[in-house]
Amino acid sequence: MDASEVKVLRGRVLSFVDEPASIDDAKSYRYIEDGAVVVGGGKIIMVGEFNPKAAAHHEIIDHRGKLILPGLIDPHIHFPQMQVIGSYAANLLEWLNTYTFVEEQRFADKAHATRIAARFFDELIRHGTTTAAAYCTIHPTSVDAFFGEAAKRDMLMVGGKVMMDRNAPEALRDTPQSGYDESKALLEKWHGRGRARYAITPRFAITSTHEQMEMAEALAREYPDVHIQTHVDENLAEVAFAKELFPNLPDYLGIYERYHLLGPKTLLGHCIHLTHRECEVLTQTRSVAVWCPTSNLFIGSGLFDHDRLHAHGARIAVATDVGGGSSYSMLRTLDEGYKVLQLRGQRLNPLRSFYMMTLGNARAMSLDDRIGTIETGRDADLVVLDASATPQMALRMEAVDTLANELFLLQTCGDDRAVVETYVAGRPMKSALAA
Ligand code: GUN
Ligand code: ZN
Repeated sequence: MDASEVKVLRGRVLSFVDEPASIDDAKSYRYIEDGAVVVGGGKIIMVGEFNPKAAAHHEIIDHRGKLILPGLIDPHIHFPQMQVIGSYAANLLEWLNTYTFVEEQRFADKAHATRIAARFFDELIRHGTTTAAAYCTIHPTSVDAFFGEAAKRDMLMVGGKVMMDRNAPEALRDTPQSGYDESKALLEKWHGRGRARYAITPRFAITSTHEQMEMAEALAREYPDVHIQTHVDENLAEVAFAKELFPNLPDYLGIYERYHLLGPKTLLGHCIHLTHRECEVLTQTRSVAVWCPTSNLFIGSGLFDHDRLHAHGARIAVATDVGGGSSYSMLRTLDEGYKVLQLRGQRLNPLRSFYMMTLGNARAMSLDDRIGTIETGRDADLVVLDASATPQMALRMEAVDTLANELFLLQTCGDDRAVVETYVAGRPMKSALAA
């Protein structure tokens, strides 16, 4: 590595080491008031107290007063839905049919897919998100655009072609065989290339026949280390429809269980209306329930029962679900999540929120050996946050006296304006975006 490539980021370094048990669980994180994160070759070379002598030979980037955290992680998002956000619909199925399945047809066009993919990664960077698990459309062009644009930015991204062969417009349907063949070719092309990771992506049980589910199962068997992503138990009419389509199975999650699609690499969007049996199966298979608060509120799908799943010992992640979700910001997402749990009489303390956006989501995606913490050897994906980013936040900050309350302010009032800089593989990316 060229020594000139090494940078020292000076600031208040915060990184979680474990799930916080309470708002004052100081053992759950490591905090360095005048800290330094030394990055080079895309990795974190060192983290510790800022040492002027040691830093003297390198470029020092001064983020003093700001918080340096691991880059934020969004484990469920739809990149082709950037122009769907804020679409007016009564419920999930109406929203899908009226807007989403219309917009997604445009991704057969390579120019459109590439333009939106570029804007997508720019928006993630603007919001401090450095890794996401994304749905593409059925079109291989959309997957090529997604991974191609991610590679240009050297971002660690998980994504896949959605497989759908029924209950969608003709132009958005593949077949069991073409869904399998195209997914396999895309997986072979992209998985492990640079920082790309493929996800086998049967959209949800409603849009896949028995034959297509078998093809997804075959892929998962052939590529056991690859992620699987899908939706489950989001909306009551959706649950009823799924059960009608697979009448001999015990429940909605039982459909994915039947095709051996559950496991530690399976990301299940929503998980709102789970039965007791589904909670047990989710937990036993170590599949991940992905909570999407802004989407669940916006579409009116329901209030996620965090404590029930936590009591089962289930793995839980939290995500934006743009464009059902209404913000790219993980800060806005956790703020809405906090309010959902307030309505349920459950507590979400700010340490836990920031754990979830970073190490918690990294663990849920089985990527915590690479991202989610600030440690020597980890990928240098970082975000710099400013809790005084707006005049009203700065005024409120005058009365904030603990780190936990500063995080809570960031979550409650923060958005992309609180993101000072986003580093991807050690490179400052937000400041490089065109305004
Ligand atoms: N279920 C199946 N597809 C989708 C989607 O695109 N968004 C949401 N929120 N739920 C889904
Ligand atoms: Zn979704």
